[in-house]
Amino acid sequence: MKLPNLTILDEVDKRLRLTSKEVTFPLSKEDKDTINDMLTYLEMSQIEEYNKKYNLRAGWGMACIQLGIPKRIFVIVEETEKEKFKKYVVINPKVISHSEELVFVGEGEGCLSVNREVEGIVPRYARMNVEAYDIDGNKYTIRVREELSVAFQHEMDHLDGILFVDKIDKKNPYKNMNKMREI
Ligand code: NI
Repeated sequence: MKLPNLTILDEVDKRLRLTSKEVTFPLSKEDKDTINDMLTYLEMSQIEEYNKKYNLRAGWGMACIQLGIPKRIFVIVEETEKEKFKKYVVINPKVISHSEELVFVGEGEGCLSVNREVEGIVPRYARMNVEAYDIDGNKYTIRVREELSVAFQHEMDHLDGILFVDKIDKKNPYKNMNKMREI
């Protein structure tokens, strides 16, 4: 595999604060190439051989705005078994419904744009039904739960210019921890 040449914006970059715009179909070749590059990058970041070779931080998800492209597109690459990956292309997503139950990632969330240790927890819905479009413009609905639900919410926040660090209470980074389930 060849590592795509992507420049991921750091949190100090103001472009990460933009609200991304809905996209229309068909996608341009450029947008499709970007999506495929993001998928390849994330997959390689989770494979030890490439992770070491290219000194990559392992990442699950990436939104177009992290490359400076303000379009409502993100991708997620989930390792389902060792070096087997499920890939999600999520365009113009809308949350249809979500659980009352909240969860948080015990080890903390990470983001390829946040290059520092961050203390604290982020409340997320345990489950959601999301409506979105795939790379060919086909509408689909997906039910996500647990880590995948967290990943979807993290990436959807990027589309609105929000970073996970914004959602951590500054004075009490573990606020309401006992009201949520740790995953
Ligand atoms: Ni992120």
